[in-house]
Formats: sequence, C-alpha cells, structure tokens
Amino acid sequence: MTAEKADNIVWHQHQVDKEQRAGLKKQKPCVLWFTGLSGAGKSTVAGALESELAERGHHTYLLDGDNIRHGLCRDLGFSDSDRKENIRRIGEVAKLMADAGLIVLSAFISPHREERDLVRGLLGEGEFLEVFVDTPLDECEKRDPKGLYKKARAGEIKQFTGIDSEYEAPEAPEIHLHAGSKTVAQLVDDCIEILKARQVL
Ligand code: ADX
Repeated sequence: MTAEKADNIVWHQHQVDKEQRAGLKKQKPCVLWFTGLSGAGKSTVAGALESELAERGHHTYLLDGDNIRHGLCRDLGFSDSDRKENIRRIGEVAKLMADAGLIVLSAFISPHREERDLVRGLLGEGEFLEVFVDTPLDECEKRDPKGLYKKARAGEIKQFTGIDSEYEAPEAPEIHLHAGSKTVAQLVDDCIEILKARQVL
C-alpha cells in the first residue's frame, strides 16, 4: 500500500468509539464482500440480503460497483491499476462504515486476490467475510443483463473480466454461493445461515 503523502498528520482518538456505535445499533459490524464475474448476481443477491437484514432490524449499507463508478470512482477505468485503486477506495469506505457500526455489503467484481486481501487486512478479525458469487462464465454470458459480454466478444469493450481480463476466484471464501443453480431466495437463506453460525446475527 502507498504511504500517506502528507507529513505532520496525527491520528485523533475520538470519544465515541466503534463498540459504542455498534452497541447503539445492537449489532456486530462487518463487511460482506461480494465478488464474482459481471452478471454473476452480486448486486441482486447483496440487495436481497440487505432487504432481509433490514427487515430483521439491522442497519446496513450496500456499496455497488456500477453506482460507485458514477461518483467516488468516476475517474477510474478498468486497467489493472485502476481496478486496484477502485477496490482500495471502496475498502477504505467500507472500513469507515463498519467503524460507524454498520453491516456493509459490497458488490464489486474485485477480480484480484491481492486487492481483496488488502481490504481484509483493513478490518478486524472476523469482520471481513468474502462472499464468492460463483456463477460460471458461460451462464453469466448467457444472462448478459447489460449486453456487455456481447460487446466484449465483438471487441467493442476491452479488458472485460472473464474475456480479456482475468478473474481470480477466491480460494477460501467465508461464503461460497453456487449462484448459477439456485434461486435468489435460496442464496439469501444460505447467507443468513452462515451469518448466524458466525454469530454476526
Ligand atoms: S472492478 O473490477 O473494479 O471490481 P466494478 O465492480 O467496479 O469492477 O465494475 C464492474 C461493472 O462495470 C460491471 O458489472 C459492468 O457493468 C461494468 N463494466 C464496464 N466495463 C467493464 C470491463 N471492462 N470489465 C468489467 N466490467 C465492466
């Protein structure tokens, strides 16, 4: 990670801390980091899980790839270095939100293990849960909800994940969703069961 550029900056410890903020919300903050190919179902499952958590009274926030690229990361493209910076920024935002006491859900392709591990390293023990939305490339391409695979195959989009840009699947995700063969409701149930087993819920 690059060091801070500014000198003479000192960390200030505030009176209200993470434990107090989380305690007020009566929950254990964490980051549910969804990763998978474009069209795998990350946003859909993360959105459905967020609804379920909200119904159960939890305070959540969903950070979503396409939306964040309209604002915070609008200056970034899809080269390896831009994707790395994209994930670094989101990781820092997710960390702040967990610090605020929230259950954060994030839905980014985040194709590289190194960046995902970097975000894991920003968070405390047990606070980062990698959720692998495991949908085979041919299924994502069949779904092609935004017509992007078609464009990538035609050479109209370069560096498209799974086509001419790599995706490194997680080796030991906390939650492994077989998203090509289950309904969204089943996938949400799978997440809830694991979150209970890990005492997040
Ligand atoms: S990441 O690789 O940096 O994590 P991110 O999740 O923010 O990607 O954005 C992915 C979304 O951007 C895709 O769902 C798709 O809609 C769009 N997109 C546009 N160009 C590309 C590309 N070259 N590769 C992957 N996704 C792209």
